[in-house]
Amino acid sequence: MMAGVPAKDPKYLKEIERSRRDLRALISTKNCAPIMLRLAWHDAGTYDSKTKIGGPNGSIRHDHELRHSANSEEVKTRHPQITYADLYQLAGVVAVEVTGGPTIDFVPGRKDSEVSPEEGRLPDANQGAKHLRDIFYRMGLSDKDIVALSGGHTLGRAHPERSGFEGAWTKDPLKFDNSYFKELLESDSDPDLLKLPTDKALVEDPKFLRYVELYAKDEDTFFRDYAASHKKLSELGFIWP
Ligand code: HEM
Repeated sequence: MMAGVPAKDPKYLKEIERSRRDLRALISTKNCAPIMLRLAWHDAGTYDSKTKIGGPNGSIRHDHELRHSANSEEVKTRHPQITYADLYQLAGVVAVEVTGGPTIDFVPGRKDSEVSPEEGRLPDANQGAKHLRDIFYRMGLSDKDIVALSGGHTLGRAHPERSGFEGAWTKDPLKFDNSYFKELLESDSDPDLLKLPTDKALVEDPKFLRYVELYAKDEDTFFRDYAASHKKLSELGFIWP
C-alpha cells in the first residue's frame, strides 16, 4: 500500500524547505553526514528496474539500527507530513552539500511503501566487478554511475560491529571531495585507510578504471557526474506526480 503525497501542494513544498533547514543544522551539529548518506543509498539501492519493486520508498525505516544512528526520527517528528521516502533522500542530498560536495537537485513527491524489500538486494563488499554490475544494472544504472556513486565513500567509515570491516576510506571522512579516487590510485597509500574488495574492483576493471582516473584528476568532473548519478539513484522508480 502506498501513501499519497501532495507533492505540488505549496504547503508540502514549504515543509520540505523547513525540513531541509533542520537537516542542515542536525547534520552539521551531530556530524552524521556519512550515516545519512548511507541511509539514503540503502533506501534507494533496493530498486529492481524489471519488476519496478523497491527504490527510494522509505522502507529502510524498518531497519532500526541505521535509522536510529542517523538521528532522522528527530526531523520526522518535527515534520510528520513529509514522507519517509522524501525525508531520507533529502537527508542524502543535504549530507553531500554540507560536507562540501556538489549541489544535487531534489524533487519531492516520493511515496512510502509499507513493504520491506527482500534481503540481499544491496551489494556485497566481498565481491568484485561482475557483482557490482549485476546489482547496479538491476537498478538500471551504468558503469559511470557505479564509479561516481562509489565516490560516496569519501564520507564515513566502516565499523567492525556492523560490517566486519574497519576504517575510513580517506583522511578526512567528513569532507566530500575526490580523495577517495586519489587514495584508490595511490600505490603506497596509508595502510590504515580502507579499501573494500568492491573498491579495489574499480581499479582492477579497465572500464571502471577510466572513470577512477578521470575523477582523481578532475574534481569538477567528479562533482558534476556524482550529482547526476545521485539524482538518478534518488529517483529510481519515481513517477512524478
Ligand atoms: C559504508 C559497502 C556503495 C555510502 C559502507 C560500509 C560498507 C559499504 C561495507 C561499512 C558499513 C559499516 O561498517 O558501518 C558498500 C558497497 C558498495 C557501496 C559494497 C557498492 C558499490 C555506496 C554508495 C554510497 C555509499 C553508492 C553512497 C552514494 C556509504 C557511506 C558509508 C558507507 C557514506 C559510511 C557510513 C558511516 O560512516 O557510518 N559501505 N557501499 N556506499 N557507504 Fe557504502
